[in-house]
Amino acid sequence: MTQTTKTQVGIIGGGPSGLLLSQLLHLQGIETVVLERQSRKYVLARVRAGVLEHGFANLMREARCSERMEKEGEIHHGFYIYDQQAGKQRVDLHKYSGDNSVIVYGQTELTRDLYEAREKMGGIVIHNAEDVKPHDLTSVSPFLTYRKGEDVHRIDCDFIIGADGFHGVSRKSIPKDILKEYEKLYPFGWLGVLSRTKPVSPELIYARTERGFALCSMRSQVLSRYYIQVPLSDTEEGWSDDAFWDELKQRIPADDAARLITGPSIEKSIAPLRSFVAEPMRYGNLFLAGDAAHIVPPTGARGLNSAASDIYYLYSALVEHYKKGSSKGLENYSARALARVWKAQRFSWWMTMLLHRFPEMPGYDRRLQDIELAYLFSSDAAMSALAENYTGLPF
Ligand code: FAD
Ligand code: DHB
Repeated sequence: MTQTTKTQVGIIGGGPSGLLLSQLLHLQGIETVVLERQSRKYVLARVRAGVLEHGFANLMREARCSERMEKEGEIHHGFYIYDQQAGKQRVDLHKYSGDNSVIVYGQTELTRDLYEAREKMGGIVIHNAEDVKPHDLTSVSPFLTYRKGEDVHRIDCDFIIGADGFHGVSRKSIPKDILKEYEKLYPFGWLGVLSRTKPVSPELIYARTERGFALCSMRSQVLSRYYIQVPLSDTEEGWSDDAFWDELKQRIPADDAARLITGPSIEKSIAPLRSFVAEPMRYGNLFLAGDAAHIVPPTGARGLNSAASDIYYLYSALVEHYKKGSSKGLENYSARALARVWKAQRFSWWMTMLLHRFPEMPGYDRRLQDIELAYLFSSDAAMSALAENYTGLPF
């Protein structure tokens, strides 16, 4: 038998996008139900973003979820770019972005904070929801169905939000003749390692070498996060911890390599690099947000930050709808969100093309990469463009 309930906004996906929207709406008295396919433990075991822009942090504040982020997050005013030929140069974010900065605070921690806030306020987040399906999207009464064990459930909604990541069901529910997809695949992935060691550098290092790209990042002063560019054919199992540390040392400046503290990996995973945008981000009463609608290669640290602007636009539009009876924000949502999404796409593509080693790259293209970097290191205007994008364009 199908059990039917009702809510105002049904949200598919209990990742950062879905949880943040649910929390923000709840504070405005708007009811939501979040359906998440995985268990909470599974969601919290995924190690992903580490760098947040202030726009994201402000939304966490507005959602009353910022207490731990303010205490444990680290404000970074700059980072390094290392090139084997040109050396190591600091990008002074503060100077070049007009006093802006970023916050280093892990997606895992932020998601935990959002789950706890939802729990405290009695928010409904249903985990292990199987076979989630959105229905009647172009009608005024769309609904969601899902299975939990033997039981089938139905939730009647005013609106459905697809915040279910790249592999979710929401985007696939939009007819193919309406949805246009743009995609670029890169011929490599990032192998990431998390280790309980002191980070090698107080600020992040993005490294460009003949052997490929590397990134030294962190989650705290006792938790390091490192990445190296690897071929798509590589597997996590094929990389022992020793092999990872040896390779990393060969891709970072010699003095940093000499200082690098290694230890057992507590997480190791490979992420393929992809650029992707689906247009439009609205179909009837279904609204896509975050990775469900767009993906960037992680190089520019834009993915979660792009999700944040979607959530901000959606949140404002839904509040406008319920509180002021205006549907203008909802009508403009897709165009407004996509305008910022494409800027994040451009920046992520640029940083990825600048810093990675492409297999069989023609000499001409490699020289252009050299010159792009030389220009960046010599031009205040180029540094400002980098800093403005990295710290986050305005919502
Ligand atoms: P997701 O986090 O993918 O959440 C979607 C949720 O929906 C998941 O919990 C999933 O289980 C659930 N779901 C899927 N299908 C269904 C279904 N059918 N039914 C119900 N639920 C479903 N971004 C940054 O801004 N800064 C960074 O420094 C950064 N670093 C990154 C490093 C790496 C290695 C990677 C891989 C990504 C990084 N990102 C970064 C990107 C960032 O992690 C993503 O953009 C972010 O997770 C998007 O959040 P989301 O909630 O939209 O999607
Ligand atoms: C991290 C990931 C990124 O893609 C990035 O640009 C910076 C930091 C991280 O996981 O720490």
